[in-house]
Amino acid sequence: MAKIVATDLTGKVLAATSVVLSVSDEMSCKNCHASGSDPYAEPATGWVYNSDPLKDPKLNILKRHDDHFIISQTYLDQLKAAGWNYQSSLYQTAVSGTPVLCAACHSDFALSLPGLQGINPLTNDMHTLHGPQLNWPSTTQTLDQAKDDLSGCYVCHPGPKTQCKRGAMKNVLCSDCHGNTSHLGDPLRAGWLDLPACQMCHNTSTRYNSAFDNNGKWRTTTDLTFATNPDVPLPGKDLYRFSAGHGKVFCSACHGSPHAEYPTAQSNDNVYPNVEQKYVAKITECTVCHTTQMTPTPNLGPHGIHAIGQAWVNVHPDYVDQHGYSSCAYCHGSNYTGLFLSQAKVSRTFTVENGQKKTFNAGHNFNCYDCHNGPNGG
Ligand code: HEC
Ligand code: HEC
Ligand code: HEC
Ligand code: HEC
Ligand code: HEC
Ligand code: HEC
Ligand code: HEC
Ligand code: HEC
Ligand code: HEC
Repeated sequence: MAKIVATDLTGKVLAATSVVLSVSDEMSCKNCHASGSDPYAEPATGWVYNSDPLKDPKLNILKRHDDHFIISQTYLDQLKAAGWNYQSSLYQTAVSGTPVLCAACHSDFALSLPGLQGINPLTNDMHTLHGPQLNWPSTTQTLDQAKDDLSGCYVCHPGPKTQCKRGAMKNVLCSDCHGNTSHLGDPLRAGWLDLPACQMCHNTSTRYNSAFDNNGKWRTTTDLTFATNPDVPLPGKDLYRFSAGHGKVFCSACHGSPHAEYPTAQSNDNVYPNVEQKYVAKITECTVCHTTQMTPTPNLGPHGIHAIGQAWVNVHPDYVDQHGYSSCAYCHGSNYTGLFLSQAKVSRTFTVENGQKKTFNAGHNFNCYDCHNGPNGG
């Protein structure tokens, strides 16, 4: 966890909070590239059997790469010009003391490295080559055919132990948002930029279980209630972690990191919402940020949500009287009997008619029949 402290110029602390900064080295290439493992990945000249278990799979990988591609003099010259001291074999380069950096040759957007002309980006080559490989030691299906994360993406990504996918969508398969391994290798796909977006599933009062439509294309929608911002960080892209809403508040300030959207299965993630609003959920309480008493606005909160609490209970009749109740349907349901979009994540008690108190449990979907007989208040 990282503690973030904001101070003024005199060093006076203005605000502080603790959040998770996820790091993991659980990239399990050893499943298939450790000496003596997957025979389909064995180098032509045999496994290296290095005594260091961290080095062993890496050296096997370099040898296997050497089986297919001898580094040409043209590439060696270009590498030299760029300051990299390589030999014609990756294995030889490594054992003679120069660590091999894949991105010296394969461009990698994450590292801002351009690679060499004529060599594919690392992410495209990695996913394209591995999609059709068998999931060693189970040889019944390829990585592309995996029906669960453990026998698909988690053989390389972190991982069976780390469980990087732990947020509100932890039950959605990686491939239902991203497509399968070969799909990620699509040469037309810009790695690190062509990624799923929230509105592919969250639109029209629905939560879809897959980001893909019936034609196998990412779902598009004109409903931008829960959408990421267009053209961030580059024109034509719309990445969540660069997006903001509600007065330029980053989406992640209320929802957390991608794959770790509140509530998550990792207790450290949940420290932040718990400290800020005393219960684990996306940041919902207006008072986390607004210190002044809010006028009970009907639709000026995030995603057009109204102020939450007794003040809104008191004034909502005036608003409905003036504007009708149809605007409530998006979140409270087309028949006004409540929906996941009108759910309270904490128990609430309100004073209703004649000073009577009513308590609603956490998980209750607020609806227009809770306190009176329907949306017209009768
Ligand atoms: C499920 C098994 C499996 C896993 C996990 C796996 N690989 Fe492989 N890999 C293979 C197989 C099989 C081949 C040989 C494919 C071929 O030659 O057609 C291979 C080949 C390679 C090659 C050689 C490419 C070339 O030049 O032909 C590289 C590089 C490589 N893998 C890197 C990695 C890295 C890095 C990881 C971890 C992030 C990894 N692999 C994880 C099965 C696996
Ligand atoms: C010295 C330059 C160089 C370095 C360093 C390098 N590669 Fe490659 N790699 C190539 C070339 C050239 C090709 C063939 C052209 C292509 O596929 O773009 C290739 C192809 C591949 C392929 C595709 C194999 C196939 O059959 O489709 C994979 C996967 C791969 N490299 C992974 C890696 C990984 C992982 C690393 C780091 C461990 C790495 N490469 C380091 C030059 C390099
Ligand atoms: C509910 C949809 C969803 C699921 C399920 C999902 N992802 Fe993602 N993933 C995203 C989104 C959205 C982004 C883009 C985040 C952003 O804009 O920063 C992303 C980005 C990524 C990135 C790029 C990270 C970065 O820093 O840019 C990787 C790697 C990744 N996902 C891997 C996975 C793996 C592996 C799994 C399964 C274990 C998985 N994802 C499951 C939605 C999903
Ligand atoms: C054989 C190992 C391997 C498998 C299997 C694998 N990945 Fe990856 N993936 C990698 C490596 C290595 C990188 C880092 C590439 C780079 O640095 O550019 C990566 C990068 C990514 C990225 C970020 C770059 C991009 O293209 O946007 C995403 C997203 C991603 N993987 C998703 C997935 C998903 C989802 C699956 C399963 C459907 C999967 N990967 C299966 C090895 C793998
Ligand atoms: C594959 C489609 C899909 C994508 C893409 C997706 N979601 Fe979800 N989301 C779901 C589903 C399905 C649920 C309900 C999960 C459940 O009930 O287990 C959900 C639930 C949620 C919840 C409710 C959590 C709670 O209990 O309060 C939030 C918040 C959320 N998603 C935010 C996001 C954000 C932010 C993004 C983009 C970074 C996103 N989702 C992308 C499908 C998706
Ligand atoms: C100020 C806090 C805040 C910010 C900033 C914020 N949200 Fe939300 N978000 C919420 C709240 C509260 C809800 C619950 C709405 C409801 O249940 O009616 C929500 C719900 C969601 C949902 C899930 C809807 C469901 O099915 O439960 C998604 C997806 C989502 N937001 C995406 C985003 C995106 C994308 C951004 C940035 C462009 C963003 N949010 C910015 C507070 C915020
Ligand atoms: C994560 C912090 C955060 C939360 C939570 C939050 N707000 Fe805000 N709100 C902001 C910021 C930042 C602004 C922009 C302030 C500015 O522009 O000076 C803002 C602005 C507003 C405004 C003025 C916007 C306008 O158009 O005049 C209203 C009204 C408002 N918020 C209502 C709400 C309501 C209602 C809730 C709870 C449902 C809520 N906010 C929750 C941070 C937050
Ligand atoms: C953007 C989504 C959204 C819309 C639109 C919406 N509501 Fe809500 N409403 C919610 C959510 C979410 C809750 C539960 C919040 C909580 O208690 O945490 C809620 C709760 C309530 C409550 C219970 C009191 C409270 O503050 O929890 C009343 C009353 C209510 N809504 C009335 C209305 C009326 C009337 C309309 C139409 C004018 C409306 N809502 C439109 C999302 C919405
Ligand atoms: C937490 C309790 C509560 C919920 C939930 C609630 N209301 Fe109300 N509502 C009240 C109270 C209290 C009054 C004022 C007393 C009365 O008329 O019963 C009222 C009055 C009204 C009135 C005015 C009736 C009149 O005679 O003028 C309308 C219209 C109304 N509500 C609409 C809605 C709609 C639409 C919803 C659902 C989106 C909703 N209410 C949900 C508590 C609630």
